[in-house]
Amino acid sequence: METWQRLFSKRTERMKASDIREAFKLAERGDIISFAGGFPAPETFPTALIAEVAHEVASRLGASSLQYGPTEGLYELRESVAQRLRGEGIECTAENVMLTNGSQQALDLVGKVTIDPGDTVIVEKPGYIGGISAFNQYEPSFTPIPLDSDGIRVDELERVLAQGGPVGGGPVKLCYVVPNFHNPTGVTLSEDRRERLAELAREYGFCVIEDNPYGDLRFDGAPRRHIRTYDSGENVLYLGTFSKVFLPGFRVGYVVGPEPVIQKLAISKQGADLCSNSFGQRIILECARRGLIDKHVKSIIDVYRKKRDLMLRALAEHFPDEVEWTYPEGGFFVWVTLPEEMDAKALLPRAVATERVAYVSGGASFVDGSGKNTIRLAYSQASDEDIEEGIRRLGRFLKGEALRMRANAQDRGPASRHGRAGWTEGIGAIGSNR
Ligand SMILES: Cc1ncc(COP(=O)(O)O)c(C=O)c1O
Repeated sequence: METWQRLFSKRTERMKASDIREAFKLAERGDIISFAGGFPAPETFPTALIAEVAHEVASRLGASSLQYGPTEGLYELRESVAQRLRGEGIECTAENVMLTNGSQQALDLVGKVTIDPGDTVIVEKPGYIGGISAFNQYEPSFTPIPLDSDGIRVDELERVLAQGGPVGGGPVKLCYVVPNFHNPTGVTLSEDRRERLAELAREYGFCVIEDNPYGDLRFDGAPRRHIRTYDSGENVLYLGTFSKVFLPGFRVGYVVGPEPVIQKLAISKQGADLCSNSFGQRIILECARRGLIDKHVKSIIDVYRKKRDLMLRALAEHFPDEVEWTYPEGGFFVWVTLPEEMDAKALLPRAVATERVAYVSGGASFVDGSGKNTIRLAYSQASDEDIEEGIRRLGRFLKGEALRMRANAQDRGPASRHGRAGWTEGIGAIGSNR
């Protein structure tokens, strides 16, 4: 490895294994109930349909269905995406859409074409780890803006911008948000904050990255407008994906932006992979043409709503009083805030060893190193029975930890005993057994 210590670029010093991947490794071990991965429920995958459509596409188009495709993606699918988004109020044409290798690649390419070392990237606190690590490779300076139950605190962002940007930071280039059923917290950005965010982007000349993989999976409450609908298109790039609403295996996502930006992204994409999965794009196009994707989305909403409800009910029944959690109106995640003294990452191996249950510790979602007492629970992949049983086990584990902590505090004497003030307020905590 000595040679490689010399060969690795300076850039790699900033790269570290994500806590999510680490949690996956633990969860892979046999009889573990895992709430770690934000994976879609496997029972929702339309395997028979995909087999039939794949056969049909390959037979009808022959070898050309297996050829390289255009870097920007199959034109007809770009058109189909644009048409759907126009129906949701986003003015765009096929030329404004580039298909990517999942929306994760769009995050990487946007970072590549916009961020110079030291530029400021605004991120949510906590934010999506995959987005943060994609941008991190291009050496920005992150400015975290806290969230509450209405999403990113746009007033706080405005305060930072009004004082001339973050102290000592480079120009603000990007503001990265997941407005619907946020990963990791499950919260949704309020309508007035969406509008104000688009205004601020125009006023201060930065770009909002509106990353919306979960927006179609709304279980209750009124749908919100896309941030992009409050903008002409210049200051908001919109990202979407078929991963969560259909299937992730084809790796088909998209970015919507002004044509010159799409062209720049396409040049950058050529260096990355020449083109994305063209056969997968053809299958998705055929499914979209037959109206099967919309039908599929409608059917899976009920599946995920049931899982969300099961998890919320189990949390209320089994979790200790001192713990708080969010109420997601859609998507895959519940965010849990433990007592401040608990370190979720340190506790994870013990939760796996003693209770055979896994989660993602939230700390890595905070670029400022805070949030050690937080947990992301994905209800999306676990079976209904495992949700009930896994939360029961995790609740038992956390109750034991809370008791142990109290006993330790008592041993140390009254001065060190924490009271209510010692527990942190959760992000938009709706649920709690207090
Ligand atoms: C907020 C967010 N953005 C982007 C992605 C990447 O999705 P994909 O690359 O599968 O489209 C994910 C996946 O978990 C996500 O949660």
